[in-house]
Amino acid sequence: MMSEQVVVGCGYVGTRLARHYRDAGQGLRGVVRSEAGVARLAQLGIEGVDYDLGGDDPGDLGLAEARVFHFAPPPGSGVQDPYTRHLVEVFERYGHPQRVVYISTTGVYGDCAGRWIDETHPVQPAADRSRRRRDAEETLRRWSLASGRDLVILRVAGIYGPERLPLERIRAGAPMVRPQQSPYTNRIHVDDLVTACIAAMERAPSGAVYNACDGHPSTMTDYFLEVAAAAGLPNPPLIGLEEAADRLSDGMLSYLSESRRLRNDRLRDELGVVFRYPSLAEGLRAIFSPE
Ligand SMILES: NC(=O)c1ccc[n+]([C@@H]2O[C@H](COP(=O)([O-])OP(=O)(O)OC[C@H]3O[C@@H](n4cnc5c(N)ncnc54)[C@H](OP(=O)(O)O)[C@@H]3O)[C@@H](O)[C@H]2O)c1
Repeated sequence: MMSEQVVVGCGYVGTRLARHYRDAGQGLRGVVRSEAGVARLAQLGIEGVDYDLGGDDPGDLGLAEARVFHFAPPPGSGVQDPYTRHLVEVFERYGHPQRVVYISTTGVYGDCAGRWIDETHPVQPAADRSRRRRDAEETLRRWSLASGRDLVILRVAGIYGPERLPLERIRAGAPMVRPQQSPYTNRIHVDDLVTACIAAMERAPSGAVYNACDGHPSTMTDYFLEVAAAAGLPNPPLIGLEEAADRLSDGMLSYLSESRRLRNDRLRDELGVVFRYPSLAEGLRAIFSPE
């Protein structure tokens, strides 16, 4: 019998993945942390479970022998991920899943001064949000070693797609830094990420780590300019980095302080993922001018 899929953290990416398994006639449950989330999934014909990984007492989520996609983000502060630790306690108490596919982030590499890097680059997170991700990866790796169950980690770049573009920010006229001072960023279209997640579940070797990005990085400023052009919106005003320190949010400044260009050869060559949207241009065209 085919084992059940469970998406822990069934939001933007998870719901699209859940639709794939639903349409293939395979069982899938989505774990969210609100009744509204359960209702949203029910409308799509997906069984939802309301369970907060931030709760005190690990409860049985029915994950024994399941195939688990863990997409729930860590909390907003600290350098550890107590949610992933909680999930591992659930496994230990109620039974281990067959395999976990975990969405981490490319932030674990820290600042690479714009260099091209692949998965062999050492993990050296600079921001706390990325330290929490390193903690989650390490927690899951320890679990996999101790339990003998499979783990695949996808280090995911900036996710974009329908309803996931910085249009409000651009409409509000928020500034961006000048191209010459702008760091490199990496992206992936949500549909290609879903393809990568399925490939990771179906055929990746246990212990594997993949960069999940389209392999066509650009500067952060180019990203905003391309999105504005595709949406027919005015370009954001461009300012210097010094002025940016006063005018941009701490979150944006943190992203601007890291620059890296990520290779995705392993995802394409080893896992055989074929990108529908190999660059931002194709992805934006599909969103704004669908055929
Ligand atoms: N945005 C990016 O560019 C980017 C880049 C790299 C990696 N990622 C990561 O990719 C993953 C998937 O992203 P996404 O866009 O699909 O996220 P999302 O839309 O925010 O969905 C997150 C889901 O996790 C659930 N959740 C959050 N905290 C939980 C908790 N404590 N217990 C149980 N469920 C919890 C939420 O439940 P409710 O529906 O009830 O709120 C929601 O369904 C996240 O880990 C995200 O951080 C994102």
